[in-house]
Amino acid sequence: MGKMDGKVALITGGASGLGAEDARVLAREGASVVITDIQSEVGRALADEIGNALYLDHDVRDAGRWAEVVAETVQRFGRLDTLVNNAGLVKFGTVEEQGPEDFRLLVDVMLTGTYLGCQAAIPHMSKDGSGSIINIASVAGLKGISSIPAYSAAKAGIIGLTRSVAVHCRELNYRIRVNALAPGGIVTPMTAQALAELPEGSAGLEQTVNHGMGQPSDIANMVLYLASDDGRHITGTTITIDNGETME
Ligand SMILES: NC(=O)c1ccc[n+]([C@@H]2O[C@H](COP(=O)([O-])OP(=O)(O)OC[C@H]3O[C@@H](n4cnc5c(N)ncnc54)[C@H](O)[C@@H]3O)[C@@H](O)[C@H]2O)c1
Repeated sequence: MGKMDGKVALITGGASGLGAEDARVLAREGASVVITDIQSEVGRALADEIGNALYLDHDVRDAGRWAEVVAETVQRFGRLDTLVNNAGLVKFGTVEEQGPEDFRLLVDVMLTGTYLGCQAAIPHMSKDGSGSIINIASVAGLKGISSIPAYSAAKAGIIGLTRSVAVHCRELNYRIRVNALAPGGIVTPMTAQALAELPEGSAGLEQTVNHGMGQPSDIANMVLYLASDDGRHITGTTITIDNGETME
């Protein structure tokens, strides 16, 4: 028996890094998985590798596409139990350096994208009487990091959004749990980009590396916990998975 037998999970930004590992782990535990992303080739290859999976092109900023993606998920697999709002990107530059276009892009993809995902998924999940929404925030939403103000703002927004959506679902007795994860320092293409682009000695970066980076499975195992019945009493919270980066 897998922990996700009979469940259907939709993962945005699922072609790469953390999302790809979430897809593998949830599928290994019996879920049917829908991977969405803007990277068609790798996304399709991953869905083929996993087997009981479907890849869909999906820019999370597009509200119309959200409706289609959720409808295709339900049409193909019959229901929607888990949504992982994982799609994201980072752009570096202090508040004095970063232009408004980059600020808006990061907030649009990560915060508005997560909002649109909750909006699209909740009616389907409430119809089936249960669901788990897992929003991928970051340690950057919990502390100040001078090189990524827009990223921090978007991730802090996700934490606030998560609480409000969780309260909404509880008030209406939807039995949909809504939680956020705040990872820090996990080895993925995104952190490789940070290590390549940020100058040596950048605040926090060296410490994170010196204390040891985490693996995508460190996040995927918590996604599995929250998506499965193991996490049935947890909602409205943010779980930090950062090897102590924010503990002081
Ligand atoms: N790696 C870490 O240490 C870390 C720490 C904290 C938070 N996160 C968050 O985890 C999530 C996954 O990041 P990752 O490290 O796996 O990076 P990644 O770059 O490997 O994966 C991000 C994925 O999001 C997709 N994406 C970007 N813009 C999109 C859009 N508009 N619509 C749909 N998909 C889009 C990308 O194509 C990519 O596949 C992100 O939200 C990131 O902010 C990562």
